[in-house]
Amino acid sequence: MIAPHSSATPAARPAVRKAVVPAAGLGTRFLPATKATPKEMLPVVDKPAIQYVVEEAAAAGLEDILMVTGRHKRAIEDHFDNAFELEQALAAKGDTVRLDAVRDPARLADIHHIRQGDPLGLGHAVLCARHHVGNQPFAVLLGDDLIDARETLLSRMLEVREAHAGSVVALMEADPEQIHLYGCAAVEPTDEEGVVRVTGLVEKPAPGTAPSRYAVIGRYVLDPAVFDVLERTPPGRGGEIQLTDALQDLAAGGTVHGVVFDGLRYDTGDKADYLRTVVRLACARPDLGPEFTAWLKEFVADLEDDEADGRDGHRAA
Ligand code: UTP
Repeated sequence: MIAPHSSATPAARPAVRKAVVPAAGLGTRFLPATKATPKEMLPVVDKPAIQYVVEEAAAAGLEDILMVTGRHKRAIEDHFDNAFELEQALAAKGDTVRLDAVRDPARLADIHHIRQGDPLGLGHAVLCARHHVGNQPFAVLLGDDLIDARETLLSRMLEVREAHAGSVVALMEADPEQIHLYGCAAVEPTDEEGVVRVTGLVEKPAPGTAPSRYAVIGRYVLDPAVFDVLERTPPGRGGEIQLTDALQDLAAGGTVHGVVFDGLRYDTGDKADYLRTVVRLACARPDLGPEFTAWLKEFVADLEDDEADGRDGHRAA
C-alpha cells in the first residue's frame, strides 16, 4: 500500500485542467530539416507531430493547453490558429473534408502560447509556464514525443495523481545500452499494478551508473511545488536547467510516483524513430494503410532478395 503524501482526500484535490507542451528546443538531432522548421511541425503522415500531442491532451480532458515556443517556432502558433484565406478557398470549393482538417487544430482546446526567450533547458521551459498554470497541478507533454492514440497512459497518470497527490512521471524500460540517453529513475515497487514510487532521478546517467532500466519519457503530471524547486535549480547536464533535477528534489521528499508504460511511444525528434513512426501510423490508417502496407511488404521482399543477391535494395517503386 502506498502511503499518501498529502492529507488532502482525492475529492478535495484540484483536478488537472491544464497542459503545458514545451516545444522551444533547438532540434539539433534533426538538422538540417529543423534549421527553419520546428521539429514539432515535421509531418507524421499528414499532421504535424505536435498535433497528435495536443489531441492526446484533449482526449484526456485537458482543455487548456499552453505551448512553450521560441524564435523560429511561429509555424506552431500558425498551425493552431485560423487560416482565413485557406478556409475561404476550401469553403468556396465546397471541400468540407479539407476544411475540417484545416479547422481542427484550433478547435482541439483552448490553446495559448508563451515564448521561452532562450532554450535554457526543459526545466526552464516548464518554469516559463508558472504564471499561466498558477497554483494547480498540471500535465506536461513533450511536443516531439508521441504516445499512440490507442494508449491511455495520460489518463492513468491523472488517476495516480488523483489518488496520491504529488507528481507522476511516465517510465519505460529501456535497453541497458540506451539508458544513458534518458533521465533514469530509481524506484521501489508498490502493491498497485504498474505504479512505482520514485526514490531518485538522474539525467542521462554515465554508462554503467544507471540506478535502474526505467527511462523517464515525455509525459508528466506535476504538482505546482515543482515551480519553487525549478526557481532554485542550477543548470545541470549540458548546461541546461533540467526538469529531472527538480524532480529529483521532489522524489527525495517522497512525492513522486511513476506509471510504468509498455505501449507504443515514438520519439519523433530522433531520425530513425521518426521514420518508424511514419511507417507505423501510415500502416494503421484506414485510408492509406491497405495500399501502403501492400507496397511495404513488396519493398521488404525486394530488400530481402537484394540482400540475398548482395545488392543494394532500391527496386520497389
Ligand atoms: P530535447 O531533449 O529533445 O532537446 O528536448 P531539443 O533541443 O528539442 O532537441 P535536440 O536534442 O537538440 O535534437 C525535449 C523537449 O523539451 C523541449 C523540446 O522542444 C522538446 O519538446 N525544450 C527543450 C524546450 O522547450 N526548451 C528547451 O530549452 C529545451
